[in-house]
Amino acid sequence: MQPARNVELKAHDPDPAATHAAARAHGAQEAGTLHQRDTYFPVPAGRLKLREERGATAHLIAYARADAAAARTSSYRIVEVPDPAALTAALRATHGDGPVVEKTRRLLRWENVRIHLDEVTGLGHWVELEAVAPPGAPPDLAAEHARIAELRTVLRIRDEHVVAEGYAQLLVRRGAPQDLIDGARVAMGRAYVPYSHFHVGVALRASGDAAGVHLGANVENAAYPQTQCAEASAIGALIAAGHRRITEVAVMADTPLITPCGGCRQRLSELAGPDTPVHLCGPEGVRQTVTLGALLPLTFDAHAMEQTG
Ligand code: THU
Repeated sequence: MQPARNVELKAHDPDPAATHAAARAHGAQEAGTLHQRDTYFPVPAGRLKLREERGATAHLIAYARADAAAARTSSYRIVEVPDPAALTAALRATHGDGPVVEKTRRLLRWENVRIHLDEVTGLGHWVELEAVAPPGAPPDLAAEHARIAELRTVLRIRDEHVVAEGYAQLLVRRGAPQDLIDGARVAMGRAYVPYSHFHVGVALRASGDAAGVHLGANVENAAYPQTQCAEASAIGALIAAGHRRITEVAVMADTPLITPCGGCRQRLSELAGPDTPVHLCGPEGVRQTVTLGALLPLTFDAHAMEQTG
């Protein structure tokens, strides 16, 4: 069975009342308000979520979609679920926990486009456009792209409000603890950088120390190679405070995407594991979260010195 396809666009909505009025003025029809809860499951390919809706049957939705801040094609399969609690338990036991997204969705329809005015718990207001392609539509889905482009203009959706990620990823990203972000920002402001003028701040969380954060800033030197990265400074603070393991890292700089240098990836790996989250931050907050294993695969560690001969 072929998956269904649509073209989608998702954007932050600073003025939901104005968006609603513009949609109605363009001929969109009111189609009700839905209360939905989506439970995501970690899967090796695509995405998988259980959608529960107040007063309606639950569905399992399997889909694949590119992460692009633009209108993008999604292909999906929807399966009815008679026993959502049992399915959740079965999938969690075998796949692990993913995020849960709760939202109130005001649904409007225009042509073959679903207009979602969403209020998402923890994320605020969003507008989502979904042009559902009829079976047998040409592969480029040109007609659906054209309708999304028209509505995008009518609803005044601005480029900077369009997001690439889904609600689940946005929630995970926003979920980066504020104390780490605030700590990294303070440390960044204190960096000693008379030569590069490039401020870097790092905040580390230590194992068994949920409340505390350990800060570091970069410290430069007139003899340039003596410069110390912010990560190294923060590791020193964590060790001096009596800890031995790092469980979470935030690195911040005012650059499109700060990533720890190669040497600091190695330094972090001495005290952290491949699953340790590393939040790559700008001054406003987290821009991307990666694992240390993704930053430094095939790590050289103490085990690498075990001799086989
Ligand atoms: N820097 C860090 O503090 N951490 C990194 O991971 C990348 C680079 C600092 C070192 C130096 O003070 C400045 O950024 C420019 O290299």
